[in-house]
Amino acid sequence: MQLVAPLNSSLRRVPPGWVYLAGLIPLAWVIWLTVSGGIGIDPVKEIEHRLGKIALWFLIGGLAITPLRRIAGLNLIRYRRAVGLIAFFYIVLHMLAWIILDMGLLWEQAVRDLIKRSYLYFGMTGAVLLLPLALTSNNASVRRLGRNWRRLHWLVYPAVGFGVLHYLWQMKVITPEGWLWAGVFAGLMALRFRPFRG
Ligand code: HEM
Repeated sequence: MQLVAPLNSSLRRVPPGWVYLAGLIPLAWVIWLTVSGGIGIDPVKEIEHRLGKIALWFLIGGLAITPLRRIAGLNLIRYRRAVGLIAFFYIVLHMLAWIILDMGLLWEQAVRDLIKRSYLYFGMTGAVLLLPLALTSNNASVRRLGRNWRRLHWLVYPAVGFGVLHYLWQMKVITPEGWLWAGVFAGLMALRFRPFRG
C-alpha cells in the first residue's frame, strides 16, 4: 500500500486521452509486423488472432480495475471507460479482419462459416452485448440513464464470459494459456461475490 499512494498521485497527472493513445500501440505493432513481413506464414490468421487476443487483454484489464482498487488500493477507475472502448475497438477490428480478410466480404460464405463454427456464436453474442455499452459510454447517456446505466453495464460480465468461451471453444484442445485466461476470468468473477468482498 505504501507504494500505491505515490503511484495514484502520479496517475492523477495522466489524462485518460493518453490511455486511448496507448491503446493504439498494439494496433501499430500488428500493422508493423504485417508490413515488415514478420507476422508469420499465415498473415490473415495471425492478424485475426492477434486482434482477438488484444481485445481479450483489454476486456479482462477493464474487469480488473475495480478489484485492483478494492484489494490493492490502485485507482484506475477514471481509465475504465477508455479501456472498455479500446477493447470494443479491437473486437470491431477482429470482426473486420474475419469478414474482410478471411471471408473476402463474401457474405454467403460468412453465413456458412458462422453456421459451421459454433464458437463464432459465442464471439458474436459477446460483441452484441458490448455494443449497447459502447454506445452509452458517453457522459450524456450516463446522465440520461441514471441508475439504469449501472444496471446496463452489468452486461459486461456475460459479454466477457462469452468472449472467453469463444476463445476456448475455437481451440482443438484447451492450451495452458487458455486455462489461464479462463482462470483469471473466473477469479475476477469470484471477487464480485459477497463472501470474497472485503
Ligand atoms: C467478445 C468478443 C470477442 C473476443 C474477446 C474474441 C477473442 C478471440 C480470441 C482471443 C481468439 C483466439 C486468438 C488466439 O488464439 O491467439 C479469437 C479467434 C477468432 N475469432 Fe474472436 N473474439 C470475439 C468475437 C468475435 C466475433 C464477433 C467474430 C466473428 C464473427 C470472431 C471471429 C474469430 C475467428 C474467425 C477466430 C479464429 C479462429 C480460428 O483460427 O479458427 N470473434 N477470438
